[in-house]
Amino acid sequence: MRAADIADQLSTVLVTEEQIHDKLGELAARVEADYAGKDLLLIGVLKGAVMVMADFSRKLRRDVVIDWMAVSSYGAGTKSSGVVQIRKDLDTDLTGKHVLIVEDIIDSGLTLSWLLENFASRGAASIEILALLRKPEAAKVEIDCRYVGFDIPTDFVVGYGLDYDERFRNLRDVAVLAPHVYS
Ligand code: XMP
Ligand code: MG
Repeated sequence: MRAADIADQLSTVLVTEEQIHDKLGELAARVEADYAGKDLLLIGVLKGAVMVMADFSRKLRRDVVIDWMAVSSYGAGTKSSGVVQIRKDLDTDLTGKHVLIVEDIIDSGLTLSWLLENFASRGAASIEILALLRKPEAAKVEIDCRYVGFDIPTDFVVGYGLDYDERFRNLRDVAVLAPHVYS
């Protein structure tokens, strides 16, 4: 798709590449301080968190272990149902580990609430969440997210890992999908 066609499918840019990088730098400094002297396991949720993981983890001036989990929530279209299926499980044993879940976005919170329970049952020593984006008005369950990048409105957004029908993940900014694309 050409640049002009892409622009036609997006409305406003919500968060720019520069804002994302500044914010991830701030969050990395907090994480470094909070986990000083402890081993840290970053768990990315595929596929949306790929960009956040790549950029956030490289802002950390310390050693970490990175693992990935792929889940899909049953449900129609763009809505999460909370019924989660594991598509790719972790390679790491969580027993005694300090886990930081790295996510692109918290929408209803249902996926993360399931993941939190699942990881807790595997014996992690601590579990915290870092999410680049959060939609506070869409919350169906309260998620205690220690590291939040940006609170955004309930619009469907794409870019920086986030997709619509697997497209737009490679956009450098986060933008609102134009309603005419999905309605
Ligand atoms: P829940 O509702 O369980 O959903 O918090 C989290 C997952 O849903 C996807 N999601 C989005 N994907 N633009 C996207 O491209 C959005 O605006 C959006 N909102 C939710 C995403 O995969 C997230 O991990
Ligand atoms: Mg996701």
